[in-house]
Amino acid sequence: MIRFDYNYCMEEHIGAHHGITADDMKSITKKADDALQRMEEEKAKGLLGFLQVPYDTGIVDDIKKFKDSVGWCNTIALIGIGGSALGPQALKNALADIYWNELPDEKRGNKCKVYFYDNVDPLEMHSLLAMLDVSRTIFLVISKSGGTTETNANFAIVLDYIKKHTGDYAKHIVTITDPEKGILRQITREEGFVSFPIPSNVGGRFSVLTAVGLVLAEFLGIDSKILLQGAASIVDRYYGKSLWHNAPLLNAAFHYVFDVKKNKRINVLMPYTRRLFVFADWYRQLWAESLGKRFDIYGNEVKVGLTPVAALGTIDQHSQLQLYLEGPDDKVITFLKLEDFGCDIIMPEFYKGKSELDYLGGKSLRKLNGFEEQATELVLKEASRPNASIILPGLDERSVGQLIMFLEMQTAYAGYLYNINPYDQPAVEQGKRFTFGLLQRPGYNEYEQKFKSGYQKKENYIL
Ligand code: PA5
Repeated sequence: MIRFDYNYCMEEHIGAHHGITADDMKSITKKADDALQRMEEEKAKGLLGFLQVPYDTGIVDDIKKFKDSVGWCNTIALIGIGGSALGPQALKNALADIYWNELPDEKRGNKCKVYFYDNVDPLEMHSLLAMLDVSRTIFLVISKSGGTTETNANFAIVLDYIKKHTGDYAKHIVTITDPEKGILRQITREEGFVSFPIPSNVGGRFSVLTAVGLVLAEFLGIDSKILLQGAASIVDRYYGKSLWHNAPLLNAAFHYVFDVKKNKRINVLMPYTRRLFVFADWYRQLWAESLGKRFDIYGNEVKVGLTPVAALGTIDQHSQLQLYLEGPDDKVITFLKLEDFGCDIIMPEFYKGKSELDYLGGKSLRKLNGFEEQATELVLKEASRPNASIILPGLDERSVGQLIMFLEMQTAYAGYLYNINPYDQPAVEQGKRFTFGLLQRPGYNEYEQKFKSGYQKKENYIL
């Protein structure tokens, strides 16, 4: 089971000014109880699908059946954006080899290579299409709403390309979308595309444990059932538990206190393996879109938000750490520690007799990673900079499933502590409307006009 070590967030270690005190925690006990109650009520209303998906393992059998029926496929190309792309990317990076696509087929166990189309970028699109063998590729088109411009733009280009390069285009497309609503569901029905549903009560950034992540997982040989079991074990362990027995709620409460009482609202997630760096990116979206809100649920203007930062150890010890140690006292750092890397390398003898180098000989690379991480914890502690660790026993499906659910629950609880809605993203809608207006989408003419009158710049401010 993953564990949460919050020693260096506490007053005993970093002092009462920067650390969490007993009084701080007393002052939020009532809020924490209210958060538990709100989660209970929303779950009872059927709104919190993300807490239920780990128990719905039936979908995995459907995905496996489909995967077994497409032995001709050796590449998956995923089209999506935001929650519809970051979760699958995080899974692939955490649970597949770092050089997965570059491995020879036998070393990949003849599993599919995978590429992601999650931006609007002609340079990237050109390169991706030029490199793909479309005849052996399945395109996973993922959009909960079906209406996302970036995804649909990429889908349009890819669909045209597939049609030009293969006969039976429909067999190359699998859609993952809302079970009933949206234009992607409609065209899926009309075209007869194979499709898997995203439960309607699961939002984009909370959807990695639905077909959004699981279809790709199966094609990469990731054991989805164990991933889901891992996530379920976190719900079983923490759901409804009181503050000091509920690690996701406790970490949410710490972040809340650090913000409102100690002016620290930059939250760094710092794994010590590249395999979890994209995971930190997934979390960055989860935390930012969920918690950055102008209004609370009562309509009061609150303008809350915690700024998530993804860092990577040991690299960022030589890039960001100086700032974290001596810059503004505004950061809370959470390390992702791996207890067992599943491998190690012992450094060979290295210029024996030269004391600047030969101390490395015979030492373990895995241990060096651990020493560096612990040294970073300690220097932060000595500078009274709060830091905690989530400790993973290993990098496997169970631990990753646990980590996903831990961070999803933590994010939901944090939203409740701020009395905001962590599941919507109202502000980004206006930018989408302007884009629709500029693309002259019917019904959005007024936004084209508003854009033209609003987007004004003075030439003399541009050098
Ligand atoms: O978390 C969210 O809801 C968003 O980030 C969405 O995932 C993103 O906007 C993509 O939306 P969709 O899946 O509807 O294409």
